[in-house]
Amino acid sequence: MKVEDWTWGARHHARSTAIVGATGVTGVELAAILLDAGHPPERIACYARTDGALNVHGRRLPVAQMPSDPRSLAAYDVVFLCTPTEVSQALAPRLAELGARVVDLSSAFREDPAVPLVVPEINGRVLAGDPRLVANPNCTTAIACLPLAVVERLAGLEEVVIASYQAASGAGAAGLETLHGELRESLGLPRGHGRPTPFPAPIALNVIPAISTVGEDGTSGEERKIAFETRKILGLSGLLVESTTVRVPVERCHSVAVHLRTRTPLAPEALVAALRAAPGIAWVADPHGPRPRESAGRDEVFVGRVRAGARGPTSLAFFAVGDQLRKGAALNAVQVAAALFAAR
Ligand SMILES: NC(=O)c1ccc[n+]([C@@H]2O[C@H](COP(=O)([O-])OP(=O)(O)OC[C@H]3O[C@@H](n4cnc5c(N)ncnc54)[C@H](OP(=O)(O)O)[C@@H]3O)[C@@H](O)[C@H]2O)c1
Repeated sequence: MKVEDWTWGARHHARSTAIVGATGVTGVELAAILLDAGHPPERIACYARTDGALNVHGRRLPVAQMPSDPRSLAAYDVVFLCTPTEVSQALAPRLAELGARVVDLSSAFREDPAVPLVVPEINGRVLAGDPRLVANPNCTTAIACLPLAVVERLAGLEEVVIASYQAASGAGAAGLETLHGELRESLGLPRGHGRPTPFPAPIALNVIPAISTVGEDGTSGEERKIAFETRKILGLSGLLVESTTVRVPVERCHSVAVHLRTRTPLAPEALVAALRAAPGIAWVADPHGPRPRESAGRDEVFVGRVRAGARGPTSLAFFAVGDQLRKGAALNAVQVAAALFAAR
């Protein structure tokens, strides 16, 4: 696939779109991406649990209450589900059955072998059959996979070890509100009103070394998702993937420190040259970058600190940062929809 195939533009402006979960952090981002691409606001229908309105870049988008009968949603050319897993689980198959194209941002169908899990730059070709339901990947996985796919193409991947530094907004609007409230409190200011914290411990001025529930084997849900989804997206069922996922007091952008082994030797300079040419990736020469604060609101995955590992010519390390609300969620979903329409 070519970059134009997954870029939302004028040729999509006649398409009707629906965003379910439009009032959440990924829903608002998705509406903003469509509007910024010139999509007519009257062809962006927004739904949430309760009705109201969104103000996105000074444009008002009305929000309707989610209809109890999904048939009205199935009439849109594409439906983006920016909803909790259980809501997507109930809604997506019904919409797909009714013939709608559905891009689901939740984790509900990512492990379903019948549902494609897509990062267009890597495996967009799996959309050629115009599937009705497509799963959007876990935010950290999407960000890590873009540079990992470049390594795989150059020298084959043998083993990947990831440490993630994940923003508070990765836990939705409640995560961001909690970070802001706790930061105000730590400065002696009133905390303000907000939803209950989604975190198991204070997040302001802290780090929490596990994301989502931790299983009996000590692995977190997020770590299991990263391993499974990295293998599925890269098409490498035997790839060794190990991670530690950490929540940090950052507003948006997930960062990953990646250490890996390749099948054949790969020089850091060769990897940098390939990263510079790869779509969706921006190379960062700053030896103290990339960083989440400077990457917020951007579409690219920023990659830097490429260096040889200590385990010989097949070992390498890099650091990558991506806005998880964009490439890790809403932007990737819009790119998937664009790619679905590419040949139609
Ligand atoms: N945040 C991220 O970085 C990120 C990244 C990748 C994937 N995701 C996934 O994307 C999905 C949305 O996440 P988010 O972070 O945007 O969450 P969020 O900020 O908590 O927003 C959730 C949205 O879902 C709506 N909703 C909740 N229950 C609903 C129901 N029963 N019927 C209809 N709408 C309902 C909410 O509407 P109300 O406002 O009316 O309650 C809100 O619009 C989740 O599955 C999440 O795992 C998130």
